[in-house]
Amino acid sequence: MNSSVATDIHSQRILILDYGSQYTQLIARRVREIGVYCEIFSWDAETAQAYAQNVSGIILSGGPESVTSEDTPHIPDYIFATSVPILGICYGMQALANKLGGEVSEASEREFGFAQVSIVQNNHLFSDLYDNKNQQGQACLDVWMSHGDKVTKLPQGFSTIASTNSAQHAAIADEDKRIYGLQFHPEVTHTKKGKEILERFLKDICQCKANWTPTNIIEDIVHSVRDQVGSEHVILGLSGGVDSSVVAALLHKAIGQQLTCIFVDNGLLRLHEGDQVMQTFSQHMGVKVIRVDAEHRFLAALKNINDPEQKRKKIGNLFIEIFEEEARKIKDARWLAQGTIYPDVIESAAASTGKAHLIKSHHNVGGLPDDMELSLVEPLRELFKDEVRRLGDEMGLPYEMIHRHPFPGPGLGVRILGEVKKEYADLLRRADNIFIQELRKHDLYDQVSQAFTVFLPVKSVGVMGDGRKYQYVVSLRAVETIDFMTARWAHLPYDFLDLVSRRIINEIDGISRVAYDISGKPPATIEWE
Ligand code: XMP
Repeated sequence: MNSSVATDIHSQRILILDYGSQYTQLIARRVREIGVYCEIFSWDAETAQAYAQNVSGIILSGGPESVTSEDTPHIPDYIFATSVPILGICYGMQALANKLGGEVSEASEREFGFAQVSIVQNNHLFSDLYDNKNQQGQACLDVWMSHGDKVTKLPQGFSTIASTNSAQHAAIADEDKRIYGLQFHPEVTHTKKGKEILERFLKDICQCKANWTPTNIIEDIVHSVRDQVGSEHVILGLSGGVDSSVVAALLHKAIGQQLTCIFVDNGLLRLHEGDQVMQTFSQHMGVKVIRVDAEHRFLAALKNINDPEQKRKKIGNLFIEIFEEEARKIKDARWLAQGTIYPDVIESAAASTGKAHLIKSHHNVGGLPDDMELSLVEPLRELFKDEVRRLGDEMGLPYEMIHRHPFPGPGLGVRILGEVKKEYADLLRRADNIFIQELRKHDLYDQVSQAFTVFLPVKSVGVMGDGRKYQYVVSLRAVETIDFMTARWAHLPYDFLDLVSRRIINEIDGISRVAYDISGKPPATIEWE
């Protein structure tokens, strides 16, 4: 850690042991929102033990397994030797109880969804927190349960601090040893006081201060980048997406003119996007950006290519080729900056141990050839996407750049079905711009997770005034999703769709019909290709 940093943002940290819950990353995000740094390790990771030696508290996640089965994930002994507070959530609580001599049994009925727990004993975790009171005057919390097993006998030293009708030991504690267990999930927003409960654990019980703030994180990154690269030169592939934009702003703050960004305009970007990227970074911020106008090279490479995967490959490979050509021109470059974020780090750790839950199928940028011998700078390695956005806001990057929907690396290349042509890309850009403009104007943009327009290279008949039109078709697509693995088509108001359709057909000569995609994922994917 760099001694010149005013606030050591990593000095108080929490270890999260992952037992495979779909919510583990959410726990980490909540902990950090409260202002405390944390890292996730698999429950059996060898590196976790060393990490545990210098933490302020440990959280055990939920998980899909049952402690009543044999050979299921267990609690490693070393966590008790640390003497720091421990919070077990769901499976984490059951595994704790099992480890410490209690009993866990399969519940006769599984419990999913809302539940009301009544607080049956004063304790530090819930003190003064409640959503309502029951007929007996007990304070109650509205919580989110999702479990099959339950603790049926407490370990020695523990007492029950909250109960539901179906789970007597819904929350347990050994306050002398500062060990707590929750059968419910405080990390999900359905548990109304969930954030406050976690805050109690972190601030009161673990005695952590809220040092993990955007201002402190920026300061820390700026210092560590300066330490890392010294007076050497860094290059960065700037795409205008959230991650590379925030990396550019951070590096510019840290090393100014030692940074050169390469922005490859592949001709498959949205309307005016290239100009906006240049305006923000080059004109406004004074970042050194080389813009490579490569539309013709991409279009030439995509000629006669219809297959989506082949299009992706062509676009990806050509991007690397062009980036490499430009990078080689910067003679004194020693470092390559990348926008790797914490979920990528977790994912590749999981992949290396064969535990990846979801395999990423899309990668924007491959590696550069070894003979370039550039070392990596990855200033976002510790951050979740929402934290990256907060840094972007803090550094004054345009709101629309930082809070926009994801845009695929191959861009419009996979939103034009079949062969990509300039004529199609130009029509699509204008139609998409109308859709997005109207979504923003009607405050619908932030209510959907991703919205865009797809170009269908088929012609359809229409009438305009007295004339007959025989022109192309576009489809609007808008989805709501949490993880982009499944998605629901957004039920946008008919009047709104009507307005967008009219504007597109009236304003764009070349498009005579607009459809709205009402397919969910699965079975459809979000993109059409
Ligand atoms: P699908 O279409 O697979 O999309 O349901 C899920 C999410 O991934 C994005 N996507 C891509 N992102 N390169 C990317 O960087 C790609 O080739 C690619 N294909 C799909 C898609 O926009 C959605 O957010």
